[in-house]
Amino acid sequence: MIRLPEISKGETVHILGIESSCDETAAAVVEDGRRICSNVISSQVKLHAAYGGVVPEIASRRHLEQINLIIEQALDEAGLNLRALSAVAVSSGPGLVGALLVGVSTAKALAYAARLPLIAVNHVEAHLYANFLTGAGIRYPLVALIASGGHTSLLLMPEPDEIVSLGQTRDDAAGEVFDKVARAMGLGYPGGPLIDRLAAQGNPAAIDFPRAYLDDMEGRFDFSFSGLKSAVISHLHHMRQKDETPDPADLAASFQEAVVGVLVDKTVAAAREHGAACVLLAGGVAANSRLRSLMREELLHALPGVPLYFPPPGLCTDNAAMIAAVADHHYRRGIFAPLNLNASAGLPPGS
Ligand code: KG4
Ligand code: ZN
Repeated sequence: MIRLPEISKGETVHILGIESSCDETAAAVVEDGRRICSNVISSQVKLHAAYGGVVPEIASRRHLEQINLIIEQALDEAGLNLRALSAVAVSSGPGLVGALLVGVSTAKALAYAARLPLIAVNHVEAHLYANFLTGAGIRYPLVALIASGGHTSLLLMPEPDEIVSLGQTRDDAAGEVFDKVARAMGLGYPGGPLIDRLAAQGNPAAIDFPRAYLDDMEGRFDFSFSGLKSAVISHLHHMRQKDETPDPADLAASFQEAVVGVLVDKTVAAAREHGAACVLLAGGVAANSRLRSLMREELLHALPGVPLYFPPPGLCTDNAAMIAAVADHHYRRGIFAPLNLNASAGLPPGS
């Protein structure tokens, strides 16, 4: 039998978060949804770099090898044992199903063995909640852009704990195009940080790449990046055919400007339409320096006084502290998962 907690008002809540949705095996303990007691991440980036992207089968196997060690380390660093925890939380989707299952099975086993409540967390929502770990002065309604290697979503939070999806990508995720363009340019993996650095020395107006705005009313907050990706790859191809060498910095800067331009325009439009009191960025692409600076500039111009928040780079990319942070809200509202919880590859935010 799982003990369902009786939450008393002044209770200190310690939640163990577990994350294994893609290529990071992570565990963290967070106190009261805000204070990070430990945050351990084992990245598989080097393992997948040889293939230019994440290989799902390799990711699952590596999670299996790492997960118990990472959880032990997170508990040790927090100075807590399992029985001192309030709950175990796990990212149950969206993500690679085989990878997610490693975290979900482990969390279920721990919850059962230690008689702790289990909390299922939506990975995309968790990215948004990474902002709650930084003590930012979050106000509602808020608009959040979550852009990473697997997802690109515009979310609205009209009030605490309520999430409405405004739009998402119809094809490639923003981080995915950074990775694919970097691969085509022969830069390495993951491509986002490499392009970000290279673009700093280039001219963003050197090449006019296409930007998809999807202006139909229904899909005006959706994204599409596959046309841009094809345009960059075909540009590279044509130059190589003519024996010309593209300036990598100009190419990186022009490509980055096209992605970031669309992300910024749509986020600012959503913030205006929904009267946002603040705007949040999250996900791996939120670490992009041009996205941060252009978003700040455009918000200041269009909606002066509406603050922009984003997590530090280590909390933008996948981590388990964000899983434990969102779980704290579920815990206080008494939302727990059954022990037959399954992983869900395509779980939409707000569900
Ligand atoms: O959030 P994350 O760790 O994993 C997913 O949930 O997908 O995001 C990883 C993605 C990769 O595609 C990576 O290239 C991208 O975030 N990324 C960046 C930057 N840092 C990481 N993209 C653009 N600029 C960056 N500085
Ligand atoms: Zn993620």
